[in-house]
Amino acid sequence: MTAIDKKTLIEDRVNNGLRGQWYPVAKSVEVKKTRPHGARLLGEKIVLWRDAENRLRCIEDFCPHRGAPLSYGEIHEGNIGCRYHGVVVDGEGVVVRVPAMPECALEGRKALKSFEVAEAGDAVFVYVPSIEQPEAPELILPKELTSDDWTGFLCTGEWKANYRYALDNLADPMHGCYLHAESFTLAFGSKQDLMKLDKTDTGFRVSRVGQVGENFDWTEFEVHPGSMFCFLEIPYPPAAGPGGVFRIIGFVTPIDATTCKVFFWRMRQVSGLARESWRFLYRARLEKTHWDVLEQDRVMLEGMPDDARRREMLYQHDLGVSRVRQVLTRAAKSQVEAEMAEAAAE
Ligand code: FES
Ligand SMILES: [Fe+2]
Repeated sequence: MTAIDKKTLIEDRVNNGLRGQWYPVAKSVEVKKTRPHGARLLGEKIVLWRDAENRLRCIEDFCPHRGAPLSYGEIHEGNIGCRYHGVVVDGEGVVVRVPAMPECALEGRKALKSFEVAEAGDAVFVYVPSIEQPEAPELILPKELTSDDWTGFLCTGEWKANYRYALDNLADPMHGCYLHAESFTLAFGSKQDLMKLDKTDTGFRVSRVGQVGENFDWTEFEVHPGSMFCFLEIPYPPAAGPGGVFRIIGFVTPIDATTCKVFFWRMRQVSGLARESWRFLYRARLEKTHWDVLEQDRVMLEGMPDDARRREMLYQHDLGVSRVRQVLTRAAKSQVEAEMAEAAAE
């Protein structure tokens, strides 16, 4: 294999999404015991459901008989029955029954890949294995999603843009005062600044130099073995109700090379009665304004050509964007090299 092939493989891996990662794929409420839920992840179709013990299961969304989507099927005693000719497959991807054909040789065969699944913060996460990390590592999550002190809301959206655009957008606090200039909370703050990049224990933080604690001033990325997410804070006017700053946690899931799914948790550290009143206020008044802001991001990113990278001209403010790309490229390189080493050993 030539150096050029390797470079292309690395670029493709970055573009299609890293393996060896936990990705959120659905809201918890979407994955039920009563019917299968189809999703896509890194170009693959998967199906999720809860089995008889209420355990989350995930396998390829492909019937071993003739390839019908299992997500069109039904749940029978914790397994999925294909809608086309009734073949039943379990959560390990093993064919349990072929009802149309007595003693069919397919029965007992492990026919499909199965995936490890976890649940946190009202979302369902699926692990995409890599050669370096075939077994799922522990899913490391932001503390706000695992602690009782915080409360919030998860909102998700499918965007017709490569997942990298959504990550780039998050690593770029400077867009806030332009793209979201009309919004409730993002309207104030200066429109000129410099950016800086600082290393943290687990990743990096990109922040505005001149504007601190005023608005969308910084984003921090955490890069763990097996998960990557970011968070940012938006100081809130008193009209936004009780609780401290508003914290947004973002995960971006690559669906395929031109589609992604964003998962944003809007969290506040607030307890007791104040918690209930904030949750009420959020639902009643704030949620809509947040959707409006997200729509501005979505429309902008969907409007950019898929290959914008080839012509873009970055400037000082794009420190965070460059760092995200560096993180992705390094991880992709190591994955591609491990795959090439394995292929060579065979
Ligand atoms: S394609 Fe699923 S049972 Fe035939
Ligand atoms: Fe934005």
